[in-house]
Amino acid sequence: MIENKEILVTGGTGFIGSHTIVELVELGYTPIVLDNYSNSSSSIIRQISLITGKKCIFYQGDMRDKVFLKSIFTKHQLSGVIHFAAFKAVAESVEKPLHYYDNNLVALINLLGCMEEFRVNKIVFSSSCTVYGVENSLEPLTEQMSVGKPNSPYGWTKWMGEQMLADIAGKSDLRPIFLRYFNPIGAHPSGKLGELPLGPPNNVLPYITQTVAGLRKELTIFGKDYDTPDGTCVRDYIHVTDVAKAHVRALSHSFNSNFDVFNLGTGKGTSVLELVRLFEKITGKPVNYQFGPRRPGDVDALFADVSKAKKFLNWNAERTIEDAILDAWKWEQYRLENEIS
Ligand code: WQD
Repeated sequence: MIENKEILVTGGTGFIGSHTIVELVELGYTPIVLDNYSNSSSSIIRQISLITGKKCIFYQGDMRDKVFLKSIFTKHQLSGVIHFAAFKAVAESVEKPLHYYDNNLVALINLLGCMEEFRVNKIVFSSSCTVYGVENSLEPLTEQMSVGKPNSPYGWTKWMGEQMLADIAGKSDLRPIFLRYFNPIGAHPSGKLGELPLGPPNNVLPYITQTVAGLRKELTIFGKDYDTPDGTCVRDYIHVTDVAKAHVRALSHSFNSNFDVFNLGTGKGTSVLELVRLFEKITGKPVNYQFGPRRPGDVDALFADVSKAKKFLNWNAERTIEDAILDAWKWEQYRLENEIS
């Protein structure tokens, strides 16, 4: 636990941000939440309070508004920042590159300007396995690998974010930690918090749960001609609560280099078809699906080497993909029954 407990959580009503706030509150931190609701809903604030029994300090606004952002640093004694606020859909970034570069990079640059002015040096940066630029990892990806050419503008914004942070850390007291997510899925085990995408989900598991709940006609599996055992893409699906816990652990991680980087995954790959079959087996609900063309920006297979986080963050994924599927389905049913959108 770090001494001063005020932590700025940007993008705090998003999928991973909201679950991280629950973990922060439960460990005695005071999250200062910032969000512009571009890919989330104000109802998430109520759900966080339902679980924690605490009300969050919340600011609605856009980090590209320097005056708004600076006002938060003026009002609070922040001891660190967890930066989630970014657009994150791979295929959407291929369609709207400027949208992604503007939102993801200008927000980060403004944040770093405020952190420098107010001497806030600790930042946990939401990065991604897409920075490896690997099309088909037959071996688990390790942090020692050099970052490559990301396969989408989304991946480039994460790659550029890491480079910016590393360069600034080399010339200042800024001490960033990059957490490279593989595929966060699932929902809070209480069933009262989960993914709440605006519009049709980009990600596969919420699309499955919405299809089974009758909100979508069928799942389209994007491509079955990949170089994988069943032809569908392989990803490393990790429970969102495990990802959230890693962020809190990273806050108190001390290191003697300018920055540090950790993979957040389970070390196991699962194909889209395997995910569908697992969902059907666990819930007893059939998933209506068809095969469609490949989606731009997708790669064949990605999965993580997770030994570094275990050794240096004393963290590893504790929940299984089955836990995540069950929690995601529980949340989908809860949110529909309670008309949360
Ligand atoms: C997974 C697989 C799709 C939807 C995500 C996040 C990204 C990053 C990594 C954090 C792919 C297939 C999907 C559908 C499908 N996370 N799919 N039908 O693209 O790996 O990226 O995790 O940094 O921010 O977006 O996840 O769930 O979109 O796709 O067949 O309707 O499911 O083709 O093979 P992705 P995803």
